[in-house]
Amino acid sequence: MTPGGHARLGAALLVATAGALSRGAPSAAASPARAPPRATALSDEGCVACHADAARTWRGSLHHASASNAAYETAVYAEPLAFCRRCHAPHGDPSRETSEAAREAGITCTICHLRPGDARTVLSSPREGPVSAPHGVERSAALGQAVCARCHEFDFPDARGERMQKTATEHRESAYASRSCASCHMPEANGHRSHAFAASRDATLLARAVSVRADLDGDRVRFVLEPVGVGHAFPTGDLFRRLTLTVVTEDAEGRPLATRRRYFGRVFGPVRSGREIVRREIADERLSSRTEVTFPLATRAASTTVRWRLDYERVAFSPTRHPEQAVIEGSVTLARGELRTTR
Ligand code: HEC
Ligand code: HEC
Ligand code: HEC
Ligand code: HEC
Ligand code: HEC
Repeated sequence: MTPGGHARLGAALLVATAGALSRGAPSAAASPARAPPRATALSDEGCVACHADAARTWRGSLHHASASNAAYETAVYAEPLAFCRRCHAPHGDPSRETSEAAREAGITCTICHLRPGDARTVLSSPREGPVSAPHGVERSAALGQAVCARCHEFDFPDARGERMQKTATEHRESAYASRSCASCHMPEANGHRSHAFAASRDATLLARAVSVRADLDGDRVRFVLEPVGVGHAFPTGDLFRRLTLTVVTEDAEGRPLATRRRYFGRVFGPVRSGREIVRREIADERLSSRTEVTFPLATRAASTTVRWRLDYERVAFSPTRHPEQAVIEGSVTLARGELRTTR
């Protein structure tokens, strides 16, 4: 990581002011199914003790590791902002270095399941049937959707009103707008909804999320990429995620003739704003529908082999505007293949 460098925001932000982050209570209407609240306030220790299944899957999640995973800790070390801590370490005091307890806790049960200011009623999904819980229950569509949007959609911490992440908007504009986030991200296991929220570290899920077709089309290689069952742009979330399509042509002896790359990510670049130059999003090239890409073969060799590969990359930071110089923190190959040409 760049020592003292603005690793994460630096790509997109020159002037960083500690900005107020609006995380108001979710506003969806309550469903009629309710259980009366109890007198004692609920705590994470209580939830975990009574709900072993949810607790077990949650323990392996990035929500639990939101303040202790290596990618976040490296990034926040370079940019120790209250802005980051308020979201990633909600049990800590955002104006100070995150305490060991808040770091270890991460995003816990009560953060999602309790409305701010009400520690007696648990939010649940809006299903039918009687409530048998020994605590207050409010069944509402907000839990699987509006609650997620509190953290999965937000602006950069300056006042320019540009989104740092925009998963909720992407979802609203997708073909899956009518399905909740939870309906895709919390599959059922043992009669309970998984709280593992597996995604960017799960190679199988990632590979399933895109289909790739490659063929030769005259003097070109043509790719058709299509997201499969993704309820938002792919990749979504963290602004530095991207897909990289690498195409290498080789001659008959296996010597590389040319390497070409195409990136599918958000592109930030300098834009004039009054008397300042600031970095803004200038293009969003992530996949959101069927996308066709062609590369020229660019060789007169009698026979060539074309090797291609599609990678999902988690970028740590970009030292320059050249995407090939980005420092990659984690990467998963989603698909690969080979084509041969003879003239
Ligand atoms: C004393 C034990 C106990 C504690 C503490 C407890 N629960 Fe429950 N909870 C239950 C039982 C029993 C049920 C009903 C059976 C079931 O759904 O597992 C239930 C039901 C639920 C439901 C489903 C409600 C419905 O009918 O839709 C949710 C969601 C829930 N609890 C979340 C929580 C959360 C979050 C916490 C901590 C803030 C918590 N519970 C604390 C025992 C407890
Ligand atoms: C309090 C803020 C907060 C809430 C509420 C929240 N998330 Fe998250 N979520 C995060 C953070 C922070 C991370 C990433 C932690 C990290 O990688 O450092 C994350 C990670 C995830 C991941 C894994 C992403 C990956 O890269 O693997 C998924 C999937 C996810 N959340 C979905 C949801 C859904 C669905 C909901 C609503 C039911 C939700 N989240 C509610 C903050 C939140
Ligand atoms: C990131 C937000 C989030 C966190 C953190 C979270 N939950 Fe949930 N939980 C949900 C959502 C969303 C649902 C409803 C899924 C659905 O049915 O649509 C749910 C459902 C439940 C249910 C009822 C459904 C079932 O299958 O049992 C229980 C019980 C529960 N959670 C307990 C917990 C406990 C205990 C913790 C902490 C260890 C926890 N939750 C942490 C979002 C969260
Ligand atoms: C139609 C199903 C579907 C819906 C609805 C959906 N997602 Fe996803 N999401 C996916 C798939 C598929 C992936 C990519 C494969 C994976 O990692 O699971 C993904 C990936 C993610 C990731 C990891 C980053 C990435 O792109 O690899 C996050 C974070 C996330 N989703 C959050 C959300 C949130 C928040 C919502 C609601 C606003 C939501 N998702 C709605 C299917 C869905
Ligand atoms: C409003 C909530 C919010 C704020 C503020 C926020 N983040 Fe995040 N962050 C998230 C969510 C949600 C994700 C998960 C999205 C995903 O996995 O694609 C995430 C993912 C990340 C990741 C990716 C980790 C991984 O899984 O590879 C890093 C690193 C990170 N955040 C660092 C920061 C830093 C540093 C700041 C402050 C400059 C910050 N975040 C501010 C919500 C937030």
